[in-house]
Amino acid sequence: MSFCFNFDVSPTTTTDDLQGDTCASLTDKIGLVAKPVYERGGSAEAVKEAKEHFPPSDPQHLLDDAIYETLTIGTLPPLRFLNETLFEKTVNEREDTENILSRTAEQRSDLISGVYEGGLKVWECTYDLLEVIENEGETFGGKAVLDLGCGAGLLGILSLKRTAREVHFQDYNSTVLEQLTMSNVILNCQDDDSDDDDGKGKSPQTTDKEEESKIKPKRGRRDLLLPRCRFFSGDWRTFLILASSQVPPLKYDIILTSETIYNTAYYPALHDTFHRLLAPRGKVYLATKSHYFGVGGGLHLFETFVEERDVFAVNRLWDSQDGLKRHVVVLCFKKESD
Ligand SMILES: C[S@@+](CC[C@H](N)C(=O)[O-])C[C@H]1O[C@@H](n2cnc3c(N)ncnc32)[C@H](O)[C@@H]1O
Repeated sequence: MSFCFNFDVSPTTTTDDLQGDTCASLTDKIGLVAKPVYERGGSAEAVKEAKEHFPPSDPQHLLDDAIYETLTIGTLPPLRFLNETLFEKTVNEREDTENILSRTAEQRSDLISGVYEGGLKVWECTYDLLEVIENEGETFGGKAVLDLGCGAGLLGILSLKRTAREVHFQDYNSTVLEQLTMSNVILNCQDDDSDDDDGKGKSPQTTDKEEESKIKPKRGRRDLLLPRCRFFSGDWRTFLILASSQVPPLKYDIILTSETIYNTAYYPALHDTFHRLLAPRGKVYLATKSHYFGVGGGLHLFETFVEERDVFAVNRLWDSQDGLKRHVVVLCFKKESD
C-alpha cells in the first residue's frame, strides 16, 4: 500500500519501510493505540495553513443538542466536554468544510495522517496530565498558557478555570476548534458551584454522561473566560510563523500537550514550536504513551530527538505501572538564553 504523509516522506514509501515490524502489532492493539489511516497515492498535500478562529457572536447555538460529560479529578474543578458520539450522530447537520466528520465516521478512524490528527476525542494521556497537574499543585496563576494539539481542550480549560492570564488553543483541524474546543470552553462557562450541582462527592477521575437540549452558560462567567482565549488551527510549522508574526510575538509560560508525539515526522516542527514559543523560564508538560503502534513514534524516540537538539532538559514526572506504558514529562530550557 502506498500512502502519503504531508511531511518529509515520499508518496511511494510503504508502511513497511516506515514501521518495520510494528505493523504486525497493530491489529493486536486496536483500542489501545492510534488507528492511523494513510492516504493512498496522490502527491503530498500542502502544509496546512495556520488561521485564527473567533467564537461566534452568539456562542449558545454551539451547544444546541449537546450531549456532554463531566470529568472530576481530585480537587480540580469539574471539566465538561461534548461526548464524542455527538459528531457521528449529527454528521449530516454539521458544517464539515474539511470533510473530516464524514470521513472519520465512514472510516471509523482515530487519525487520518495529514488530514485529521485525532482531535475529535479525548485521548487517555490527557487524563494522566490532569492528574499530574493536580499532584504538582500547578495553579497557572497569571500565566500565559498554550494547549498545543488541544483537541477537546480540557488542559487549556483547566488552566483557564485556574486563573491563567490567557489561554491559547491550537489544533490541526479548524473543524475540531470550531465545533468541539470552542463548545467545550462555552460549556465550562457555568459557575463551578453549579458544575457539581448534584452535590455528591465523586471519586477521582469520574465522568458523568448528561444530555441537555438547552444548556445556558452564565453570561458573567462567559465574559470572564472567553476574552482570555484565542484559537488557532493549522500545522505547527505555519502556526509558529503566525505566532511569531504577532505584535508582540506570542510566548507562553506553560505549554500543555498530550498525545502529540506519535509521528516522528512531526518532531522537528514540534520541537521548533516549543523552542520558539516557550518563555525563558517556561515549562512544557507533555503526556504520551511509550509507543504508538502503527504510527511509530513514542517517548524514547522523542527523548533521543530532544537530546540531539540539546535545547531542552527532559524530566519524568510520572510513569504508569500497568498496561500500555504512559508517561508525563516536563521540558525546560537547558540554558536561560535559549
Ligand atoms: C491524538 S490528538 C490528541 C488530542 C488531545 N491533546 C488529547 O490528548 O485528547 C493529536 C493532536 O495533535 C495535533 N497535531 C498532530 N500533528 C500535528 C501537526 N503536524 N501540526 C499541528 N497539530 C498537530 C492535532 O491537533 C491533534 O488534535
